[in-house]
Amino acid sequence: MAAPISSSAAVDDAFYQPAERFFAAQQGVALTYDDVTLATQYSEILPRDANLETTLAERLHLQIPIISADMDTVTESRMAIAMALNGGLGLIHYNMPERQQLSEVTRVKYHVHGLIQEPIKVSPDQFIGDVLTLIEERHFSFSTFPIVDDEERLLGLLPGHVVRARYAGRKVSEAMMPRASVHTIAERELNPDPIASADKFFNEHIGIHKLLVVDDQDRLRGLFTLSDIERITQEKAAPLKPARDSQFRLVCGAAVSATRNSTGELDQKRILHHVEALVERGVDVVAISTAHGFSKGVGETVRLIREAFPELPIIAGNVTSGEAVEYLAGCGANAIKVGQGPGSICTTRIVAGVGIPQLTALYVCGKAAEAAGVRIIADGGIAKSGDIVKALALSHAVICGGLLAGCPEAPGQIMEINGKLYKQYRGMGSPAAMKAGSAARYGHVKDTTRKVAAEGIEALKEVAASLDNVMTQLVGGLQSGMGYLGAQNLEALKARARFSRITPAGQRESAPHDIVEVKTGSSNS
Ligand code: XMP
Repeated sequence: MAAPISSSAAVDDAFYQPAERFFAAQQGVALTYDDVTLATQYSEILPRDANLETTLAERLHLQIPIISADMDTVTESRMAIAMALNGGLGLIHYNMPERQQLSEVTRVKYHVHGLIQEPIKVSPDQFIGDVLTLIEERHFSFSTFPIVDDEERLLGLLPGHVVRARYAGRKVSEAMMPRASVHTIAERELNPDPIASADKFFNEHIGIHKLLVVDDQDRLRGLFTLSDIERITQEKAAPLKPARDSQFRLVCGAAVSATRNSTGELDQKRILHHVEALVERGVDVVAISTAHGFSKGVGETVRLIREAFPELPIIAGNVTSGEAVEYLAGCGANAIKVGQGPGSICTTRIVAGVGIPQLTALYVCGKAAEAAGVRIIADGGIAKSGDIVKALALSHAVICGGLLAGCPEAPGQIMEINGKLYKQYRGMGSPAAMKAGSAARYGHVKDTTRKVAAEGIEALKEVAASLDNVMTQLVGGLQSGMGYLGAQNLEALKARARFSRITPAGQRESAPHDIVEVKTGSSNS
């Protein structure tokens, strides 16, 4: 028998209700973040101890439940790297040629992950002048290179201190450190923990900064640098760790379009070819992002990818109904994006008269997701860290566009208007973005001669601090919320959330009021 609750607790329970009871009492009304507030609870949890890990698929585990949107003014490799380093995930957009999207993914996957598997090498017959040109052309920040023969066998090392203009006319073979003096480790000695093996080596060899990995035939298989290993060992001790895959590479997602051919049929061959190339580059998850995920084309695309790649995590959307969640889960999606029209640059609700305010959509979709054994992601409309806390009381991760678009890590030039700095932020359904490729997302063909109804606008965001700073604010706010609710992890946040509706007067009371503001609090404002 449940323990009797005190009369105070009974009153609390009547006014501050768990999601189940709260939303059941609001049937027919659609609510969003600012319509509710969460009641605080007895807590033994310090904000900094709140665990933010989330699992979106068996093979997709994040340290923080925040994802940067697959939009052409939000996520390319620079943003995806910064997001993964902060423990989250970046979804690289598809408004670019497929080849370019593949290189963006490669850049993320090869960003400092300990073992550089394809180090830049030189040959003994090259001139030092050629090496200098290579460094300049490819903007390398390093100048030490392994030297290999035609069969990749290690011949020596070209040390940085001889790569100078005064030796430009000398051959690499004249300046190299010979094989016998080069420090190497056998590939088979690296397991089970390559980073620990390299760390041990650098501890034991004072002053050595590079360690080459060779196979049993002395062919070059990789390279460790002391600075990478130091960064990684430091990061292992940090409270918020980067999101990494099983090979210690940063995680990265990419958007895939439900492309149609000239006869309007789903272009299955092209979609599969695209996903296969992404998987070869190490992508951790693909996202089939459309404005209307509860549609034949999206379902067929998910099914196609699921059949060809049984283990690849798939995110699909966007939807706002339980039936739609059930449909996409049945097609093979692991995580479903919820959000139609909440985005800061969206006009779907105005143009098409459809869409559901976010909190009700999350509750309804969450019920279906629970039954289907899939995750849901709250996509769009997140304007402050408090919204993230409310969203995660009903979902497993959030996607942010506008909150991150002003960061230097987002693509696009900074512009100055009347002394203030801005970056462009545009909806993927805006005329310019659809012209650049995203028309399929809104169910239109990429035919720029035809007039289609835009469902997004082009806007500007004030330039924000670095992504690290923005994430510190967002994560800090989320952890505070969890501390107030006594939730040690995201599951506990869901279980302990008690909702209460607020009126416009309550909303006014919730923000700074009746003061003359001289300094805003944070990037949340
Ligand atoms: P926020 O509010 O974070 O929203 O800026 C980002 C999300 O908005 C969606 N999105 C659009 N929705 N028209 C829409 O109706 C658009 O042009 C558009 N572009 C992006 C998308 O889900 C994104 O993650």
